[in-house]
Amino acid sequence: MSLRDKNILLIVTGSIAAQKSPALARLLVKEGANVRCIATKAAQEFVSLEELEQASGNPVSHDLWKPGQTEEGAAIEHIDLTRKSDLVLITAASANFMARMVHGYAEDLAEATLLANNSKPVFIAPAMNVEMWNHPATRANVQTLVERGAHFIGPAEGDLACGETGLGRMSEPEDITVALLAHMRLHAILNGYKALVTSGPTYEPLDPVRFLGNRSSGKQGHAIARALSNAGADVTLVTGPVSIPDPAGVKTLHVETAQEMLTAVQANAPYDIAVCAAAVSDWRAKETSAQKIKKSGDAPTLELTENPDILAAISNADNRPALVIGFAAETTSLVDNAKAKIDKKGCDMILANDVSGEKVFGHDETHIHLITRTDAEDWGVLSKTAVAKKLATRIIRTLQPDVCKDVA
Ligand code: C5P
Repeated sequence: MSLRDKNILLIVTGSIAAQKSPALARLLVKEGANVRCIATKAAQEFVSLEELEQASGNPVSHDLWKPGQTEEGAAIEHIDLTRKSDLVLITAASANFMARMVHGYAEDLAEATLLANNSKPVFIAPAMNVEMWNHPATRANVQTLVERGAHFIGPAEGDLACGETGLGRMSEPEDITVALLAHMRLHAILNGYKALVTSGPTYEPLDPVRFLGNRSSGKQGHAIARALSNAGADVTLVTGPVSIPDPAGVKTLHVETAQEMLTAVQANAPYDIAVCAAAVSDWRAKETSAQKIKKSGDAPTLELTENPDILAAISNADNRPALVIGFAAETTSLVDNAKAKIDKKGCDMILANDVSGEKVFGHDETHIHLITRTDAEDWGVLSKTAVAKKLATRIIRTLQPDVCKDVA
C-alpha cells in the first residue's frame, strides 16, 4: 500500500511545529502523493507560502476572500479543494484550530474547507503545550472529533517549544507518513466484507406517550461501527433511539422497537460479520393502547410479552454471518455466564461487561472480558473507543489470520 496518486489536502495551522510541514509535504510527494496545501494566517507566522509551494510542487491556498487558481473557478475554492482530495491532513493542529473545527467555524479558508467536507477522511497531527493538550476543553474537543471520525496522529511526548516537557509535540514527518501508510493498509483490510452492528436501546411503546426502555447510550455500538468502517468494511448500523451522531461513512438505520430492529437487520442481510451491541428490551407490552392510558385510581396492570432475540436469530439464520458477536452485562460468574450465553444464543464470541459496582451505561469506559467457546481474556478497563478498535483488530485476526500477521 502506498500513497501513489493519492490527492492529499495538507492544512497547516498555527503552532510552531508548522515549521515541519514543508518536510512533511516533501515526504508525502516522495511517496507518490499529489499534495495541495492550505496555510492559515497563524501558520504563516512559522512557515512561508513559498516554502510550502516548493515542497508540495503546487500553489498554496491561504485566503478565503482572494482565492487562488482552481479548475472550477475562484469563488468555490473551499469546495473544490475538498472534492478533489482523497484525504485531509491537518498538521501542527493547534488547540484553537481544533476548538473551531468542533464548532463548525468557517471564518478562513481552512475552516470553510473542513466544514465543506463530510466524506473525506480527516487526519489530525496536533501540536501544543502539554497543559493545553490535557485541558478538559481540549480533551472534550478531541473526543468529539474522534466521534465524528477524525483520526489522530500523535501528539508525541518530548520537549515542547515552550520549554516544558510532555505530551503535545507534533509527531515527526516520518512518523506521520508511516501512520498514514499504516492507515491506508488497515483501511483496506476489510474491503469486501459486509458488517452489521446493532446499537443503543429499544423503546417499546405502552401508549402514544410512554415506553419501556433502558439507559443504553449507543456509544459502544457506534464506536464499533466506526472501527469496522475504518478497517474498510461496508457497515450497516441499526440503532435504537440515541442522542449521539451517526458515525461518518456508515449506513445508519434508525429504529425504535426490537421488532423494527429485527426487521431492519433481516432486510439488509446477509452479512459476513455481526456485532450485536444493542441493549434490546427483553419484553414489550402485549397490547399497546392507541390512546394515552388515563389515571383511573387503580394502577394499571401491564401484560408483557417476550421480544425476539436478534442475536439468536442472526446466529441461527440460514445465511448466518461467518462471525457473530454479542455482548453481556454480568455481575457474577462472568466467564461461566458468558460461555453459557454463547451456547444459548449460538454466537461465536461474547464481550462481557463487568457491571458489578461499576457504571457502564452512558459512560465512556468499560471493563470487558472477551469470551469465546474455548477462551477468556480480561481486557481490563478501556474506553469504549479502545474496546471498538481492539474488537475490530480481533475480528480481522479471526477472519484473516495470515494478512494480520503482516499488518501487526
Ligand atoms: O440475553 P441478554 O440480553 O443478556 O443478551 C445480550 C446480548 O444479546 C447482546 O448482544 C444483545 O444485543 C443481544 N440481544 C438481542 N436481542 C434481544 C436481547 C438481547 O440481540 N432481544
